[in-house]
Amino acid sequence: MILAEGMLKPGALKGKNIIVTGGGTGLGRSMGEYFLELGANLVITSRKLDVLQETAKEMMVVKGGKVIPLACDVREIDQVEAMWKDATDHLGQIHVVLNNAAGNFISPTERLSTNAFNTVLDIVLKGTSQVTLTAGKDWIAKKQTGIFLNIVTTYAWTGSGYVVPSAAAKAGVLALTRSLAVEWAKYGIRSNAIAPGPFPTEGAWSRLLPGDLLKKFDPAKKVPVGRVGEHQELANLAAYLVSDYSSYVNGEVMTIDGGEWLKGAGEFNNLDQIPEEMWDMMDASRGKKA
Ligand code: HXC
Ligand code: NAP
Repeated sequence: MILAEGMLKPGALKGKNIIVTGGGTGLGRSMGEYFLELGANLVITSRKLDVLQETAKEMMVVKGGKVIPLACDVREIDQVEAMWKDATDHLGQIHVVLNNAAGNFISPTERLSTNAFNTVLDIVLKGTSQVTLTAGKDWIAKKQTGIFLNIVTTYAWTGSGYVVPSAAAKAGVLALTRSLAVEWAKYGIRSNAIAPGPFPTEGAWSRLLPGDLLKKFDPAKKVPVGRVGEHQELANLAAYLVSDYSSYVNGEVMTIDGGEWLKGAGEFNNLDQIPEEMWDMMDASRGKKA
């Protein structure tokens, strides 16, 4: 099936050293696996070292190459700086940072404690900012070029109820992406973002569609193309954006959601629920013959 096929040519990321935050699970893992297949070396980071070690082992068996697992809570600047030092000690110059780590859950906002709200803000906005600043300062000091790719969501610009801390934080990450794309371009540092629609992962599905919510709110039904995303489709886009083929793409957010967010936004898009017979009746009432 073409959706599950890699798109870039073999070796497209050869010689690139890439850090993937949240790289032990879900979409971070899928993107990392494809980077590895294309010749990159990886550092995968998150809080759970055991998960990272297992993932790194499995990735290297299947795809070969080098995968270094490093524990790092992106909320803690000391851990971020130590991770950056370890990563550069292992691999030398880092060429790409994929800011993918996130935390999220659904809840009416008025039910959230201050700590609950801050926890998501801290992982997503503060965490991404800390990793970005640590990498960017070092690249600038060493006169090295670099690439940031930040994973946001489409509600970074629409907003969304019931995931308000995540929406606020992802909006901040998008602003960070666009701002630094301009400010740091003079240092040869590019910044882009991807806004995925629904892509099934254990992490997201268990937190955003718990219990029988998945049955009641099938995410595929909200997507005009009628399905959720395949991980390889996202990996193809991510690989392009961290490759030198996208050198002229800077400050962009690329949406990959089958048209989902626009469906919600277009004033009359829900008229697809009107049956053909009703359109026939409306045609007849204005005198059009069948
Ligand atoms: C309300 C909640 C909650 C929930 C936790 N809290 N879960 N409040 N509803 N479902 C509250 C806790 O009570 C606590 O507040 C505070 O949040 C911190 O909780 P901890 O469990 O101590 O935090 P921590 O161990 O740091 O875990 C962080 C986490 C967890 C975000 C709560 O879910 C996590 O580890 N997530 C990482 C992975 C993840 O979320 N992946 C999904 C990304 S999907 P109090 O006041 O009690 O101390 C995504 C998709 C977006 O972003 C778009 C989809 C289309
Ligand atoms: P996931 O598997 O839960 O990924 C989140 C990762 O972040 C985990 O590996 C987690 O690992 C790590 N993480 C969480 N808190 C951290 C912290 N404080 N420090 C370091 N790492 C931390 O979920 P996913 O669906 O693949 O999500 C990946 C990205 O895609 C996220 O940015 C998410 O917002 C975005 N996204 C997903 C979807 C979707 O439909 N799946 C849609 C839009 C956007 P540990 O628990 O080991 O720390």
